[in-house]
Amino acid sequence: MAIKDFGPIESDYAFFMKHATEAESDVAAYVNELKDFAKGRASIRLLDFGCGTGEFTQRFASTLNWPPHVLRMTLVEPVPHQLSEAAQRLAAFSTHPIESLQSLPLNRKRCFDLVLSNHVLYYVEDLDSTLGQMCESLGPWGKLLLAIAGWENPLIQLWKTGFEMLGRSIPYSVSEDVESVLQRRGTPYLKSKAFYQLRFIDTEENRLKIIRFLFGEHLQELSPRRLLKELDPFARREHIEISTESDHYTIDSPQVLE
Ligand SMILES: C[S@@+](CC[C@H](N)C(=O)[O-])C[C@H]1O[C@@H](n2cnc3c(N)ncnc32)[C@H](O)[C@@H]1O
Repeated sequence: MAIKDFGPIESDYAFFMKHATEAESDVAAYVNELKDFAKGRASIRLLDFGCGTGEFTQRFASTLNWPPHVLRMTLVEPVPHQLSEAAQRLAAFSTHPIESLQSLPLNRKRCFDLVLSNHVLYYVEDLDSTLGQMCESLGPWGKLLLAIAGWENPLIQLWKTGFEMLGRSIPYSVSEDVESVLQRRGTPYLKSKAFYQLRFIDTEENRLKIIRFLFGEHLQELSPRRLLKELDPFARREHIEISTESDHYTIDSPQVLE
């Protein structure tokens, strides 16, 4: 089960995506990691964990431009209409049927060459077992690519403020949690940063869109006034401008698996 339902906040997330350079910067980082990935491969089995409406993956796939007969896709997304929208949007990138699933299957060991999870791991119920499943799902010469923001990101700091107001711990995971799970599991990884900017016209409704995207159903219990004010330090003339970063983790599967 998803601990954050993206159905009701779909348009707020779309607003964030439209006004941030995050996707552009994430794709550039992944493409750099995947420079020689397709070389000599007759088939690339891709798992996109938390694909949303598939807009990000469309940008990713069109930049990589792999031959459609090479790419086979499995999409995982708990919001049913987003899952089917993603499958339609991505159909042009593969000549094979797209597998669409609402949760990560437990029985998929060594089934994928590439596992992508772009800004999803905040919301999984059990980070340790999800990361374990993702690593186990990689075949030899496989690659797992993850993006997730950490505490230095002002949007993550807003979670801190909001959940403190509720007297609750943050129900989501951040980059620092991913890193400590990987270290505890003894999984070798490479970490890098992708820098991006969020910029939009400074109106109360626009600020509220970002707050709704961040807090989802929790906003009902919060007074948004103070959260809206938290964006004051980022006001530049008529705009809100936040320059920040996400962390990227790359995990290569062992070339020969025992
Ligand atoms: C911030 S959006 C990212 C969507 C897409 N990957 C992108 O980069 O635009 C997070 C997505 O993760 C999905 N999600 C939330 N919980 C999930 C879970 N437990 N398993 C898989 N996906 C999940 C949400 O429904 C949402 O579509």
